[in-house]
Amino acid sequence: MEKEPVILAIESSCDDTSAAVLKGRVVLSNEVATQKIHEEFGGVVPELASRAHQKNIIPVVDAAIKKSGLKKSDLDAIAFTRGPGLLGSLLVGVSFSKSLGLALGIPLIEVNHMEAHILAHMIEDENGTPDFPFLCLTVSGGHTQLVVVKSALEMEVIGETIDDAAGEAFDKISKIMELPYPGGPLIDKYAKEGNPEAYSFSHPKVGELEFSFSGLKTNVLRFLQKEVRQDENFVLNNLCDISASVQKTIVDILMKKLELASKKTGIKNVAIAGGVSANSELRSRLLEKKKRGWKVFIPDFEFCTDNAAMIGVSGYYKFQKEIFVDQSAGANARLKI
Ligand code: KG4
Ligand code: ZN
Repeated sequence: MEKEPVILAIESSCDDTSAAVLKGRVVLSNEVATQKIHEEFGGVVPELASRAHQKNIIPVVDAAIKKSGLKKSDLDAIAFTRGPGLLGSLLVGVSFSKSLGLALGIPLIEVNHMEAHILAHMIEDENGTPDFPFLCLTVSGGHTQLVVVKSALEMEVIGETIDDAAGEAFDKISKIMELPYPGGPLIDKYAKEGNPEAYSFSHPKVGELEFSFSGLKTNVLRFLQKEVRQDENFVLNNLCDISASVQKTIVDILMKKLELASKKTGIKNVAIAGGVSANSELRSRLLEKKKRGWKVFIPDFEFCTDNAAMIGVSGYYKFQKEIFVDQSAGANARLKI
């Protein structure tokens, strides 16, 4: 049997600095340094993010190599995120990877962050991996996409958001509720104690496989402004019910489109990916679909939000086909699938 390649993967597209070492599709280590600095600003500040990546990258890479039990000389290639993301953040990972690749004399592999979220499902672990083709709903802070995954290197976006992403909706609404950034996990937490039918919010009127979340944000803002005029502690007093109702609306919208996409494509192998796939309501609603004949794939929490392991597994497929880049490689903040 051919020797499986050892790949060092680096992810720095937004506010997590991450490095991983994989042998084939097996993750040996996956280190993530989450930048806390953005909490006080209610969102990611690009300039601060790149500075924090600069500070974190060497310790994170060192820790990933150490935890893998391997040495730098064991590495066969370096995979890095080319985009999409914040340009200043991406550049830290790209430049670091290029320098290390040059120093070690090993090839470089560039990876699309959105494809990587999807290919996190191909990590070899006890969960099993989906057969191709599968349908993936990718829901992160920057994207909401329905993707037909024909193979690891062949994907087609069949629907996406025309304005805000699902994660952005969670974060912007939680900001209105004066919760710290990122608000998605907090809405999820408070929703567990709340009544999802307490308040109802509107669904967008958009194309069949399109999403839109900016109207929901305005809808919640107007509703809360009105209620706060009567009771200044309205949000605090009803935090759990508001969270549960907002979360239900977002998950209803996502599931409706996912069901339609499955019907239109005839694909019943269905996966979710990206930061919002950590959402407990979305996970349980997808699991319910098993009763309707879907085969569902839900990533481990570790591989939902940004991580380098997913970059490594994407790099693995390109390594197989010897799709390498040279020192002229750069970042692309708006890279598309
Ligand atoms: O994929 P990711 O880590 O970064 C991007 O590429 O954007 O996604 C981050 C997004 C944030 O908007 C965050 O609020 C959301 O994922 N998120 C959640 C949950 N955990 C993370 N949203 C809802 N429920 C969660 N449990
Ligand atoms: Zn992401």
